[in-house]
Amino acid sequence: MSTLTKQFQQLSTLLQQAKGDWQPLPFSCTQLPWPELTDALQALDEVALDALDANSEAALAWLSQWRPQLPELHRIELPELARAPHYANPRWSNGIGGRKWAQINDFAANLNTQHPILEWCAGKGHLGRLLAQQGALAVTSLEWNADLCAQGEQLASQLQLPHQFVCTNALDEQAAALFKPQQAAVALHACGELHLAFLKHSATAHTQQLALSPCCYHLIAGQHYQPLSTLGQQLDLQLDRHSLRLPLQQQATGGERVRRLRHIELTWRLAFDELQQWLTGQAHYLPLPSFPKRLLSGDFCDFARWACEKKSLTPPAVIDNQHWLGLAQARRLLVKRIELVRHRYQYPLELWLLLDKAIFLEEQGYQVELGYFTDAQHTPRRYLLKAERYTNRTK
Ligand SMILES: C[S@@+](CC[C@H](N)C(=O)[O-])C[C@H]1O[C@@H](n2cnc3c(N)ncnc32)[C@H](O)[C@@H]1O
Repeated sequence: MSTLTKQFQQLSTLLQQAKGDWQPLPFSCTQLPWPELTDALQALDEVALDALDANSEAALAWLSQWRPQLPELHRIELPELARAPHYANPRWSNGIGGRKWAQINDFAANLNTQHPILEWCAGKGHLGRLLAQQGALAVTSLEWNADLCAQGEQLASQLQLPHQFVCTNALDEQAAALFKPQQAAVALHACGELHLAFLKHSATAHTQQLALSPCCYHLIAGQHYQPLSTLGQQLDLQLDRHSLRLPLQQQATGGERVRRLRHIELTWRLAFDELQQWLTGQAHYLPLPSFPKRLLSGDFCDFARWACEKKSLTPPAVIDNQHWLGLAQARRLLVKRIELVRHRYQYPLELWLLLDKAIFLEEQGYQVELGYFTDAQHTPRRYLLKAERYTNRTK
């Protein structure tokens, strides 16, 4: 039994037992779902809640008083993988931001290949272009946005690199045909269904080398995550999209402005929910889609009218800001108290998703390595699955 398999089994059991902690929908709750934690959570005011939530170690120690098995879920530590020797920008890297530049250099430092490269969901193909610049035989970048493809092609041709684009939908059948056995397939920050397709197509084509950094696990076709590995199917946690979002809710490293906007967004979403429950007479949370941040720079009334239109509701002639925002205050504290508990499961849940993929690749005849490819200051999505197919199944 591989180390990854043992870790996955242990993690599955513990996460299954802790479902009551990570599954509740904070926006739908009208009270704290854990009677044994109620006093302790209610003793924390908003400042204390925010401070504790932002300090993972302290929050883990705090919750472990009532959840003694929680440290076990955080026991698995992943290795730091290779890093680029430096991040000095050459002239040709013009236009690539500092953090993205560090990400692609660190990603490239983990790929040692003599094979042609397929870059999956490439954007402008920054990673592919760097790999071509570093001497890759040939790079094919798949991307469906024609604008990004055209910009990537132009940058590659200026540098006379062996780098082409295929402008197509990664979920179309023809995209599967791009995977070959003698190839290194790479994907940096490919979202849910796209990284699942990447893994399935690579395994079917027996692609020799893979490097994947997954992102946005909730962007899948179905309502629930379908584990890829046979073991994952047996130990399925039946993760819905809401639970799949949890790993992505890490505290962003934004400054004061970002924090302030997040505070307004949370309050206004809840205030609108109070308003819509009053309008419809239905005591159910009604989620709003994501929206441009500029909507938060105006007045709550305007936001509420926009939200009513989105949900085909007729807004009242006069919207009493103070009333609805006041109701939202109390709910915001409830949401933050629930999230303080849920956030302690971000790492184990993401690890479970990564291990399912790693074990799938092992089942498919790959040697797999899982670790961090870049520093946290460059991106919160810094996991890398590296896999190499065993030749003649020399396991
Ligand atoms: C998060 S970005 C990552 C881009 C690039 N790999 C990077 O790290 O800079 C995801 C990319 O996938 C592309 N994409 C999304 N859905 C796609 C699809 N169905 N087919 C092909 N590309 C897709 C988007 O246009 C976007 O450029």
